[in-house]
Amino acid sequence: MFLYQLLKYEFASGTFSLIGIIVLPGLAFGALLLAPFLDQGPGRRPHQRPVAVGMMLLGLAAVMWLTYESSSHVDWETRAEANKPIPPSAIEIDKEGPGYAIYEGNCMSCHGEDLTGGPAAPALIGTEHSAEEIAKIAQEGIGSMPPDQFQGTDEELKQLVDFIVSVNEGAE
Ligand code: HEC
Repeated sequence: MFLYQLLKYEFASGTFSLIGIIVLPGLAFGALLLAPFLDQGPGRRPHQRPVAVGMMLLGLAAVMWLTYESSSHVDWETRAEANKPIPPSAIEIDKEGPGYAIYEGNCMSCHGEDLTGGPAAPALIGTEHSAEEIAKIAQEGIGSMPPDQFQGTDEELKQLVDFIVSVNEGAE
């Protein structure tokens, strides 16, 4: 993480990215290689080797500080919430009922066999939309979802929406 954090600073990114990628890490690792030569005192106790110990402490402090900086600016909780996996076992989908048959015919090609979404469409499990909104979206589309995806009677639309809502309730 500390190397990535380095690349966030202006003096080490953009036009200066070579500084962040090569020069600064190169100096640090170069110093590590040179440490035995820079500090040739015969003493073996830490206080008798101020240069080597100082370089090591500086390196350690830099690694810890940069790593801390890189992770402290991330809102981990929001990120975890957004990426929360849906355990397949938690989802009960009644594939025998009429709702699923309608879903299969109208929505499944994009939203996936298990309502978990596909390459081009989001999951319908965990949707924030209410039943009324889902019915409206099925007829009028939303964003990049084209309109008129649902073909059928009002009764079938209601069954479809009830089905999606019930799967969502089961997944909570
Ligand atoms: C052609 C592919 C396609 C089909 C078929 C399709 N959808 Fe969608 N749907 C999408 C895409 C793409 C989005 C994302 C739209 C956006 O946010 O820009 C979406 C979004 C949605 C959303 C909002 C999801 C959310 O939480 O943001 C709902 C609800 C929805 N679709 C319901 C349905 C229903 C019900 C059907 C069947 C009647 C259906 N869709 C059929 C492509 C499709």
